[in-house]
Amino acid sequence: IRHFLGIEGLNKAQLQAIIAKAETFFDENGQLINRPELDGCTVMNLFFEPSTRTRTTFEVAEKRLGANVLNIDIERSSTKKGESLRDTLWNLQAMTADIFVVRHSASGAAHFMATEVTPDIAIINGGDGWHAHPTQGMLDMLTIHREAPRPFEALSVAIVGDIKHSRVARSDISALQTLGVKDIRVCAPRTLLPKGIERYGVHVYENMNECVTDCDVIMGLRIQNERIGSPLLASSSEYYKHYGITPERVALAKPDALVMHPGPMNRGVEIASSVADGAQSVILKQVNNGIAIRMAVLSLAMEGQRAHQAAGK
Ligand code: CP
Repeated sequence: IRHFLGIEGLNKAQLQAIIAKAETFFDENGQLINRPELDGCTVMNLFFEPSTRTRTTFEVAEKRLGANVLNIDIERSSTKKGESLRDTLWNLQAMTADIFVVRHSASGAAHFMATEVTPDIAIINGGDGWHAHPTQGMLDMLTIHREAPRPFEALSVAIVGDIKHSRVARSDISALQTLGVKDIRVCAPRTLLPKGIERYGVHVYENMNECVTDCDVIMGLRIQNERIGSPLLASSSEYYKHYGITPERVALAKPDALVMHPGPMNRGVEIASSVADGAQSVILKQVNNGIAIRMAVLSLAMEGQRAHQAAGK
């Protein structure tokens, strides 16, 4: 890996290599281990958008790898005085870093940064606008790999909720397709489906009950009120009635189906609390797996950097 900006463009072997690398960070009891693969490296976390899971699991991953970690406090930085993303980046780069992890509200921000940094710095995308959230996509694949009783090729995966505004949905659909999942289903109100989504090779369902019937994985997505910008639905209870992940709907899926959600959740809107906290939920395992995936991506990015530098010498 040179930069890790998205899942599109990576092939099956590359995705499998990231999953395999992440697996090496678990011991025989399934506990995460430390391995100082980033000893002496400096990682700067630049989160221009709020985050609980991604920012914190990146920091945990970096520390488990032995990196020097700097969390840039964007709220108290000179971006608040109008300093551009490019100038912010160039100034932080002058302080010497090996990897920038970036989350930004603008789609394409991570790609832009990758064009602006010097060749000895890697950019890892922690989520850009509506576009991509590749480490979330990969931690979701690791979770399915570890928890689902069948291989990717044999799975039916239902992605339900606000797909239009979801960078997670885009990264998940791309990863599922690359890993060979043939039956990828999506269900949302028409207003929350991107136009032409059928082009991505997914099966579109208008009826939530039909969408989840006999599936192996139900992935819920958050209603992204901050991106919708105006009240879109008659009410949360109407949404829950038609599209909520309820115990009755989970019962329509296979008996060993997994329930996933990237978080944060709107309980009682897109998912029932009893489902989110229930026996089939792997939502907190997703969070834990996020540490292993981020350790893998950081390690592979650093490996890519070292190879790049060695080739230049
Ligand atoms: N899943 C996810 O990206 O959560 P955060 O916004 O809390 O990082």
